Amino acid sequence: AILIIDFGSQVTQLIARRVREAGVYSEIVPFNSAAEAFDRLQPKGVILSGSPASVHDDNAPLAPQAVFEAKIPVLGICYGQQVTAHQLGGKVEGGHEREFGRAEITIHKSSPLFEGFWTVGNNYPVWMSHGDRVTELPDGFEVIATSPNAPLAVAVNEARKYYTTQFHPEVVHTPDGAKLLSNFVHKICGLAGDWTMAAYKDKAIEAIREQVGDGKVICGLSGGVDSSVAAMLIHEAIGEQLTCILVDHGLMRMNEANEVVAMFREHYNIPLVHVDAADMFIDALEGEADPETKRKTIGKLFIDVFEAEAKKIGGAGFLAQGTLYPDVIESVSFTGGPSVTIKSHHNVGGLPERMNMQLVEPLRELFKDEVRLLGKELGLPESFIGRHPFPGPGLAIRCPGGITRDKLKILQKADAIYLDEIRKAGLYDTIWQAFAVLLPVQTVGVMGDGRTYEFVCALRAVTSVDGMTADFYPFDMAFLGRAATRIINEVHGINRVVYDVTSKPPGTIEWE
Ligand code: XMP
Repeated sequence: AILIIDFGSQVTQLIARRVREAGVYSEIVPFNSAAEAFDRLQPKGVILSGSPASVHDDNAPLAPQAVFEAKIPVLGICYGQQVTAHQLGGKVEGGHEREFGRAEITIHKSSPLFEGFWTVGNNYPVWMSHGDRVTELPDGFEVIATSPNAPLAVAVNEARKYYTTQFHPEVVHTPDGAKLLSNFVHKICGLAGDWTMAAYKDKAIEAIREQVGDGKVICGLSGGVDSSVAAMLIHEAIGEQLTCILVDHGLMRMNEANEVVAMFREHYNIPLVHVDAADMFIDALEGEADPETKRKTIGKLFIDVFEAEAKKIGGAGFLAQGTLYPDVIESVSFTGGPSVTIKSHHNVGGLPERMNMQLVEPLRELFKDEVRLLGKELGLPESFIGRHPFPGPGLAIRCPGGITRDKLKILQKADAIYLDEIRKAGLYDTIWQAFAVLLPVQTVGVMGDGRTYEFVCALRAVTSVDGMTADFYPFDMAFLGRAATRIINEVHGINRVVYDVTSKPPGTIEWE
């Protein structure tokens, strides 16, 4: 195993991800519990993360000294480089020229770290982000790569197998970074690379059993990939101790609730309570046009219904959620300043305290594409795993202005036709998310010999990696024409279709 010691960098999980991609098991531990983890895990190598801290801070985070005494390879990244230098007797100073972003490094000496991709005398792009810098290396170290602003881009002690980089190999902006990390774990630490998502699944199941014991777990199913994968995993771990609750707010896509119920109950035989609460939600939303009020109304009702159902089945000590790593990054950051609420995202937050439950979040370490791999491992059908994300508040936030049952029906039909055309064109997997929006605007049209006065439907499709930023998808006009024609012909209530060409930022993916 590889032990990754976290000093609070925003991108520590990316190190773990790269190590997983290299087929090696790793664990991330915060620096202040690293000593215990080091003893327990007996790692074959250690990676020290970056950090917003400075080694000159009072109480600067340090690595357990044992890490440097164990005769195993150590890789220090950014702050990890400074901490290595500092703890081994070198010197670190506050940087006068801070360097952020893209830089070019020059390789001066070969190393097993670079084997197969970086050669002496050549320049390569990397991603730097640091303020402090090492000014005096500990004994036995030498510099093997530099950049104009980073004289110690890579400093190593090959004899002791200490490797340090001033740049971040774990981020995609260092194009060869994954290879560097792969060399570290394979060539330098001597680990085989035979660890897989199947092994991850077994570990996760073990951890769930340990956390839950013989307690009861409830899980809110939304029909999305994340909550479904979490539920499948937990079911595999503890069987009937898990109950899933699908709160059907009547704001799902066409047939979605039925498909989820059928899959869980009939196909996988997982206990599922299907609560049809459509009337309650839609009555509460009727006439409400403010996006935040809609979101908050839905969030509150969701919790009320969920709580009532949970009580009916005799309560539970644990609440399962399909939280992914990108959802937790911001909340654990050291520096995270106050950030503005763009939208009140809906999840079952608030419930655990109210119901005195512990959270079970088996996907906390994973990224979306890894969750999909895990879903595959658990036997979920490909068609389900590849589904586009769908927001908790559902179609309510795709119906700007007041919501009515009629509008929701119109929207469901248009959305289903649009997605059908996207599938037929073979574009579903290329697009990150696509959906229809029903605008609260009526326009005049002519159909046959008659005048029409009906709603406008906007189509949205984006590409994205994580939903944080997105580009609108450049359909060809013929495709858009086909989709528009079908929607107008087949859906009563829509006589005009427009395409949204806004990226994020400045837009958001959803319209509300
Ligand atoms: P925005 O509209 O903020 O959306 O650019 C980014 C991604 O998040 C989804 N989204 C939500 N997901 N609860 C969710 O579970 C929510 O309240 C919510 N609001 C937006 C959105 O569909 C997109 O994938």
